[in-house]
Amino acid sequence: MLETKRRVIGQMIVCQGCCCGATQKDRPPVPVDWLKDEWRRRGLLKRVQLSISGCVGPCDTPNVVVVNSDSGSQWLGNITDFNQYRSLVDWAARSMEAGHLLELPREFKAHVLEPWR
Ligand code: FES
Repeated sequence: MLETKRRVIGQMIVCQGCCCGATQKDRPPVPVDWLKDEWRRRGLLKRVQLSISGCVGPCDTPNVVVVNSDSGSQWLGNITDFNQYRSLVDWAARSMEAGHLLELPREFKAHVLEPWR
């Protein structure tokens, strides 16, 4: 088994592809620069991986976010409000303090996306 020196408690993949964040197609924005700044400012980089990705698949649902950890993946869709991104940053910071990914805030229950059949 391979090992990495860069061990994190989890990863948040934020889609910014052909549809998510494509404001030129009248899709809602993804605050990528703000997220990167907050991740840096709050010292999250080494414990919670933030990845800005190209299309992750379910384009018909705007603004997809995927949370990965050793307990699996959780897909979210319709993350279109700036306050939702703020809430995800706060959750990542609380998770870092706890040493493991905490359950996502209740407000995201309505945004859980099932991409598999
Ligand atoms: S662009 Fe985000 S799922 Fe395709």
